[in-house]
Amino acid sequence: MNLVVVAGSGHPALADAVAERLGTRVCRSVLNRFPDTELHAEIGGTVRDCDVYLVQPTGPSVDVHLMELLFLADACRRAGAGRLTGIIPYFGYARQDRRAKGREAVGGRLVADLLKTAGLDRILAVDPHTASLEGFFDVPLEHLSAVPLLANALADLPGDDGVIVAPDLGAVKLAERYAELLRRPIAIAHKIRLSGEEVTVRGVVGEVAGRTPIIIDDMISTGGTIAAAAAALIAGGCKPEITVAATHALLVGPAIARLAALPIRRIVVTDSLPIPARGPLPLEVVRLAPMLAEAASRLNVGESMADLIAHR
Ligand code: R5P
Repeated sequence: MNLVVVAGSGHPALADAVAERLGTRVCRSVLNRFPDTELHAEIGGTVRDCDVYLVQPTGPSVDVHLMELLFLADACRRAGAGRLTGIIPYFGYARQDRRAKGREAVGGRLVADLLKTAGLDRILAVDPHTASLEGFFDVPLEHLSAVPLLANALADLPGDDGVIVAPDLGAVKLAERYAELLRRPIAIAHKIRLSGEEVTVRGVVGEVAGRTPIIIDDMISTGGTIAAAAAALIAGGCKPEITVAATHALLVGPAIARLAALPIRRIVVTDSLPIPARGPLPLEVVRLAPMLAEAASRLNVGESMADLIAHR
């Protein structure tokens, strides 16, 4: 089947880069709002009987991009797409994978149901917040990981006194993967979330005194998690020369100011989302297009993706 990339408004530059590597065309989408804000979506070219890759991370504004993704999937399906794969490098709502207290919605599950209803045959996601997201889907969710790419970018870490820090318990498995690739020990921060923007760290498990911390996470949203982990590490006697690695750079609200106030040498992230103006941050961006294009190209010809998929 002919390969076609369809781009929503979530990250057109990434869609272009994926299409360029695949040597194929990008179908722009025509997205308009009625005066009452209702969305109208249309595909700007033929997708009939094509192998379609719809590129749309659902980052901020999350609901706007999610709604576009649903509408564009529906439009592709109705326009006769042969097969429809959603490339959702950042999967919003993945943090809502269970009820942490009574009377909450499980947003991740609901979004999975919506995407299935919209007609996606398959999803490619990069380091979704929770691996259990896969179980919410009846269609295959291919979980790609940027950890090898990020670890590769960190491979020139100076000295051997580095320690990989999981800034909360949820990041321990991720930390283990970095630790294996970078051959460094692990420390774990005991984080308590107080609100969407505020967290506190009650303590750090592991040797950090005199060491150089490498804080890893799946995403940096408001920067509260990194700031609280950094404060606890410095209080624990680590060197005030911090490296941060995270797949998704949401950088919303106070994130840039918070991170700029910390003794951070490097922040290595991917372009799963458009990178906001970096201001004073020492941000390094690892490009995802080569990995995403490789995955699409293998799916197109039915080749194994085993070495691209993260199992955790
Ligand atoms: C939470 O469990 C995630 O892995 C991140 O640690 C969190 O979402 C980061 O958010 P923020 O930067 O707002 O603390």
